[in-house]
Amino acid sequence: MKSILLGLVGVLLMGCQQNPPSNNTTNESNIDQKVEELLSKMTLEEKIGQMNQYSGFMDFTGPQPDKGRAANKLEHIKNGLVGSMLNVHGVENVRAVQKIAVEESRLGIPLIFGFDVIHGYKTISPIPLAEAASWDLEAMKRSAEIAAEEASAAGINWTFAPMVDISRDARWGRVMEGAGEDPYLGSQIAKARVNGFQGDDLSATHTVAATAKHFAAYGFAEAGREYNTVDIGTSTLYNVVFPPFRASIEADVKTFMSAFNVLNGIPATGDEFLLRDILKDKWDFNGFVVTDWDSAGEMVAHGFVKDGRAAAKQAVIAGSDMDMESYHYIEELKALVEDGEVEEKLIDDSVRRILKVKFELGLFEDPYKYCSEEREKETLYNAKFREGVRDMAKKSIVLLKNKNELLPLKSSGQRIAVIGALANDKTSPLGSWRIGADEETAVTVLEGLEKYDQNTYSYSKGADVVTGETSFTQELNINTTDKSGFAEAVSTAKSAHVVIMVLGEHGLQSGEGRSRTRIDLPGVQQELLEEVYKVNKNIVLVLQNGRPLALPWADEHIPAIVEAWQLGTESGNAIAEVLYGDYNPSGKLPMSFPRHVGQVPIYYNQKSTGRPFLPSPGEVFWSHYTDEKNSPLYPFGYGLSYTTFDLKDLTVENTYADDGTVTVSVSLTNTGKRKGKSTVQLYIRDEYASVTRPVRELKSFEQAELEAGESRKITFQLTDKDLGFYDNNGEFIVEEGSFQVFVGEDSQAQLSGEFQL
Ligand code: NOJ
Repeated sequence: MKSILLGLVGVLLMGCQQNPPSNNTTNESNIDQKVEELLSKMTLEEKIGQMNQYSGFMDFTGPQPDKGRAANKLEHIKNGLVGSMLNVHGVENVRAVQKIAVEESRLGIPLIFGFDVIHGYKTISPIPLAEAASWDLEAMKRSAEIAAEEASAAGINWTFAPMVDISRDARWGRVMEGAGEDPYLGSQIAKARVNGFQGDDLSATHTVAATAKHFAAYGFAEAGREYNTVDIGTSTLYNVVFPPFRASIEADVKTFMSAFNVLNGIPATGDEFLLRDILKDKWDFNGFVVTDWDSAGEMVAHGFVKDGRAAAKQAVIAGSDMDMESYHYIEELKALVEDGEVEEKLIDDSVRRILKVKFELGLFEDPYKYCSEEREKETLYNAKFREGVRDMAKKSIVLLKNKNELLPLKSSGQRIAVIGALANDKTSPLGSWRIGADEETAVTVLEGLEKYDQNTYSYSKGADVVTGETSFTQELNINTTDKSGFAEAVSTAKSAHVVIMVLGEHGLQSGEGRSRTRIDLPGVQQELLEEVYKVNKNIVLVLQNGRPLALPWADEHIPAIVEAWQLGTESGNAIAEVLYGDYNPSGKLPMSFPRHVGQVPIYYNQKSTGRPFLPSPGEVFWSHYTDEKNSPLYPFGYGLSYTTFDLKDLTVENTYADDGTVTVSVSLTNTGKRKGKSTVQLYIRDEYASVTRPVRELKSFEQAELEAGESRKITFQLTDKDLGFYDNNGEFIVEEGSFQVFVGEDSQAQLSGEFQL
């Protein structure tokens, strides 16, 4: 309490002698006024200080800076030269650093503490791609709320999430962090996540500011190679890349992060078109933009600017308000302004934006509001969070195949063999980007299964996925040779009624810096699967992975396949519930799963070519591969249930001319024997347009849980925002013409209707 008072005294007396900002920060104009008051007292150096963000001394989430520069961080905070820290977490640490800013700097302006709370802080939710497979917006919002509540209790008030980058390329490791390939689903999820993190009241202690990242087009890295060049056309940029960012603004996201990549020749961090023309002018975004880790400095390596000084100049002119770990703002901006190369009004604009968010968070009222040791103690790992992440986890699981109803498992009298290193790994299911979490805190599949104790289980690892140390910042060592455990696994499998094989990627095999050219089962796992199959064909393959995998052999041979991603803390419990049918799987793929990596990028909402179909048997002049089908192995939106659904009676009521709507309804029936949840998806096809439109576009979906035999009418309404598109000047237009509409349980839905606009 004493330090809070001292802090406030610091702010009030040292910084703002004449008209200190008052404590009432609730309304917008009040905040604007306080920002202006404070700004008027700041020196140029202090203003630039607000635009400077340093990484702390705990975790590094990017290349380590050179020692000389990093040495002065605390001194800089004391001198008012830092506006934010990232990678400082835990109440004790945050308090200690905040204390320097608030009590020792001239103006006592509190720091904002950013951290990558991507899918949980200590209690870990499924990786975001897995969550997206739930298509359950409420559950995803709740998952973000949990993450915010836990992280804010550890001193954090700003998360670098959600990542809203659309990606069609499973080679890119960061697909695990996004919502998949579709801009409509991605936009709904972006809003849900922003709402979850920020809540209704940003100044509440259990909410945090969110970040829409990475602006823009990072998910389109050429060949799926991390940080690679992006070259995409206007149509894709406006219609595919931008929508989830726009949606984040609708949800009032407080910050944006610029992307590492070059987009059409311009690095995103220095791109005036992206950051000023689009984001700040056209979309009227009034929060602030933080660069990615040294992305200002990386403009030199991109070959876009000569040196650090030019990088700082370009980034600030373009609209990057805060510089993460490049040191160029703090080292160069003052001279740039004094030499007349950067207008001070640009600096003022950035500082206003940053201070505004700090006021909105309530940091000026109480800079230590996220720093209660007591709250931290009772909040971290609180049992109440487990229920939420378990709910999220089971909803994220996608049943890919279930031949002869091998699943759900019989609940008694079964000898079950459990095989695969991932089946008993307590860390890997936490996935990538969970840097606040403790190792070994996930429930494994084996542990989850053993709770169903009327069956017997025998476990055999078979083969490691990785060997040696695993670390977020280091390359993993994949086991490509050691098959010494195969014999034991095969003999364990031989006498079992059912074999559960948990195979896939290690949790750190996806995420930043983790691109792959092969999207199969890494190491010797495919061989292990085939060896076990030789002695027992009753295999349930449970996949744990952070990206779509291409598994044609498994699809052809293995009777049951369950996509279980990396599901976080409650992973094994959620998987066991699904395997035993206590939860009827309801997940739907948010990305297409290819047959072969050579099909990538593969996505359902592709454009039609001029030669989409085989003209006559054996002809070669049409758009195809000579050695593989065009279609994916499992399409976007796909996922089975233990029950079955039937959709019929599609009707289209076109009252667009009168009230601007087209109403589509269908009748949904649960035709199986169990209660289950269907995700009814509506796709349109605009048959011809002044800029060609995709063969299908998701425009709406609804989830319905039905008892066996129950029917329900599902109604969708389409309006301009669903029927129009962005032209190549970035203008949204709605054109007359013929539309087809498809309703079904995946993107290959056959039930269709049509209408004219
Ligand atoms: C680099 C990543 O691209 C970004 O998403 C993350 O927020 C920052 N590092 C900070 O860790």
